[in-house]
Amino acid sequence: MRLIMLGAPGTGKGTQGKLLSARYGIPNISTGDILRSAVAQRSELGIQAQSYMDRGELVPDNLMIRLIKERLQQADCEGGFILDGFPRTIEQAAALDAELQQQAKAIDWVLDLELETEKIVARLTNRRVCSQCGQDYNLLTNPPPADHRCAKCGGTVIQRSDDAPDTVRNRLKVYEEKTKPLKNYFQQQAKLLVVDAEGTVEQIQAKLRAIIEENR
Ligand code: AP5
Repeated sequence: MRLIMLGAPGTGKGTQGKLLSARYGIPNISTGDILRSAVAQRSELGIQAQSYMDRGELVPDNLMIRLIKERLQQADCEGGFILDGFPRTIEQAAALDAELQQQAKAIDWVLDLELETEKIVARLTNRRVCSQCGQDYNLLTNPPPADHRCAKCGGTVIQRSDDAPDTVRNRLKVYEEKTKPLKNYFQQQAKLLVVDAEGTVEQIQAKLRAIIEENR
């Protein structure tokens, strides 16, 4: 099964993608996580990507397309995958289609998570993450320990630099301009499944699994 998690920042793509990955035994490929790890390692990709990420802008298509093509050629993608955060532009979507066509494969479904802007902003500005292992916390639903040490690895819990309110607003603007048109793109391919992302993590996961099972 090959799935795309689509939706604005903060709608729960990463949270839900990871749970689906565990359920179906296919990798969850988060371009945001790959880029953050490249930034932490100060690799060439990380150095090129950092200023875009800090401003809430998209990293250029050519870098992202190369990155995802290489990732999809790895052996663990043979049995399927979940893409979280890619594609984010029409150009990325067209490149993905072309790459999969070459491998005689195709995306099965695009799960489009929809949530009111106010709730997105609340989720993102209250998110905290472990600077070491990436463990997710949220002041609203799952606060970190009072000493700001990660319960999993002891690392320092911080706020992602792009979760500052101004940067969140820019990420949402960039989503509207560059990524939202993908809904129409995948609708035309009859692959778009729209999901209301309001509710608990467990409720949304149950909804996603039901939709997947219905359409398999
Ligand atoms: P990326 O990391 O992909 O950021 P994003 O899309 O903005 O995604 P988020 O992680 O913020 O949100 P999410 O929808 O995954 O929600 P999550 O589950 O984490 O990208 C970061 C940057 O990298 C981009 O801005 C760009 O610069 C660059 N980049 C990445 N991919 C790129 C590409 N393809 N092209 C170009 N540039 C690219 O949840 C958010 C919070 O909400 C968490 O704290 C979570 O605990 C909480 N939460 C989740 N579900 C619920 C719920 N049901 N109820 C309450 N809280 C919830």
